[in-house]
Amino acid sequence: MKHWYEDDEFWETMSSKIFSKDHWDRAPKEVEKIISLLEIAQDAYILDLCCGPGRHSLEFARRGYKILGVDRTLKYLEKARNQVKNEGLNAEFLQADMRNFCKPNTFDIILNLFTSFGYFENQEDDEKVLKNIYLSLKSGGKFLLDLVGKETLAPIFTEKSWVEEDGVLYLMDSKPIENWSKIRNRWIMIKNNIRKEFTFTHRLYSGSEIAKSLYKSGFKSVELIGDLNRNPYDNNARRLIAIATK
Ligand SMILES: C[S@@+](CC[C@H](N)C(=O)[O-])C[C@H]1O[C@@H](n2cnc3c(N)ncnc32)[C@H](O)[C@@H]1O
Repeated sequence: MKHWYEDDEFWETMSSKIFSKDHWDRAPKEVEKIISLLEIAQDAYILDLCCGPGRHSLEFARRGYKILGVDRTLKYLEKARNQVKNEGLNAEFLQADMRNFCKPNTFDIILNLFTSFGYFENQEDDEKVLKNIYLSLKSGGKFLLDLVGKETLAPIFTEKSWVEEDGVLYLMDSKPIENWSKIRNRWIMIKNNIRKEFTFTHRLYSGSEIAKSLYKSGFKSVELIGDLNRNPYDNNARRLIAIATK
């Protein structure tokens, strides 16, 4: 049986929600913040792991950085490659599964943004991804992982919600399962009277859980912050961002 994250129809149908105009508009500012947060040198080689259609990769390319975007979804990569061509940018996009992608000692910076981690059934697969990332970094290289944290989600958790965006109605219900180790989501999407429904589950990490996994993969230091402005990962945090150094 195909898992939800291996389903092209899921990613293609959800792309208007995940990559809304608002989300595209936020990317330049996020990239500026990441550059200053990680003090990225102009000659750095950056990997955007799970890059989608290149929201962030394209911004790095526009700023002259050498960047490789990796994602499993071909349609997204094609969109990114077209944009590269249209703008005459220098960026590469490669189709690969994050469980298998590994290029030892290659990158100065690796990014995994917008909750693109924790998808797999077994935690061993998450650990494999972290190990690949660790191995793919050069010594002293930095990895930034941007997640929704268990501590940030629990107090604002909403079981049922609906939103209407660009004439598309999204009905969403979510439930913490397996003692809050995962969240199971059911999303119904109605567009032009056509209804599509997807159920997807992802692993939810607390701050200490993700830090432990990163250390286990070999990272020598891990800093947790609550947003790209380097606010602390405390009760006011909006995201769980880990910066791990090899
Ligand atoms: C929430 S989106 C985030 C995309 C991008 N980082 C952004 O911020 O716009 C998650 C991405 O992970 C990709 N993805 C899912 N499973 C993957 C896998 N096993 N290997 C590589 N990419 C994967 C999806 O195709 C999708 O583009």
